[in-house]
Amino acid sequence: MKKLVLLVAVAIVMVSIFGCAPKAPPTPTTLTYKDLTVGFIQTGSEGGWRAANTASFKETATQLGVNLKFYDAQNKLENQLSAFRNFIADKEVDVIVLAALETTGWDEVLKEAKDAGKVVVLEDRRIDASEDLYATYIGSDFAEEGRKGAIEMCKLLEGSEKKNVVELVGNVGSSAAKDRGQGFREKMGECGIQIVKSQTANWDATEGKTVMEAWLNESTDYQGVFAQNDEMGLGAAQAIKEAGLTPGTDIKIITFDATAGAFKGMIAGDINVTIECNPLLASQVFEAALKAANGESLPKWVVSQEGVFYAKDAETILPTRKY
Ligand code: AHR
Repeated sequence: MKKLVLLVAVAIVMVSIFGCAPKAPPTPTTLTYKDLTVGFIQTGSEGGWRAANTASFKETATQLGVNLKFYDAQNKLENQLSAFRNFIADKEVDVIVLAALETTGWDEVLKEAKDAGKVVVLEDRRIDASEDLYATYIGSDFAEEGRKGAIEMCKLLEGSEKKNVVELVGNVGSSAAKDRGQGFREKMGECGIQIVKSQTANWDATEGKTVMEAWLNESTDYQGVFAQNDEMGLGAAQAIKEAGLTPGTDIKIITFDATAGAFKGMIAGDINVTIECNPLLASQVFEAALKAANGESLPKWVVSQEGVFYAKDAETILPTRKY
């Protein structure tokens, strides 16, 4: 009773001195999706995979109520860097999401973002930078995709006397191209595959066809094409046909992404196997962005779950594909 009287007396004294009751410490406001503004720096619009990735961001932002500021860098690194700085300067932007064209060259802008209090989330492409400069990376294990590719090419070339494989490379400098190439090389020796030609075709079907045509003009002694995406593989198949050979039979073709285009190519018999690379990353990215903006710490890499698809199953699976 005495204690209660004492407490009441203290409260009365405080109100009379400070004019108010003592304040409780402020509770931090928790942001919701509707409070969140995300600046997304996309690579460009180089093919079916990228179109699905962009659509995933635009549709999911609308569903969640996230304010999305979308920037298409048209596959130019300098555009990505200036967009990054614009988003740092933009007071509305809470989180910058980056699909990096190249693995290197990011340290400076990442430090600038950190100093400005902006959260950075990497999507699709990993970069070579200190992990404390970004909140998390959400995307594929491209090296593992490359290893799967080599295992599948080994199966396709089983019993073949020669195993000369040509490699159509994506955007040189990107993690997707570097790591798929590295993963494939790690496993190809197990069955005696040799990469006899390797050149970039920048993820593009027409360039894939041109590069393959040039190789076929020099020799036709190739047993396999390791095309780092579906478009380049489809372009190579066209060049093989025009050279009077049968893609998928005379020269086996494996591709990456597993877009509807690859499934149609498998149904036509042009492509043998496609390794999945999942572009539908937006829900995971926005969830991570929100958590990071609210001060939560996240794992530094959330790896996408992906499969492998074969020509024999293409007709059944195609109607179920979302991209
Ligand atoms: O980073 C994913 C790669 O980028 C896809 O395999 C390719 O098609 C795309 O453009």
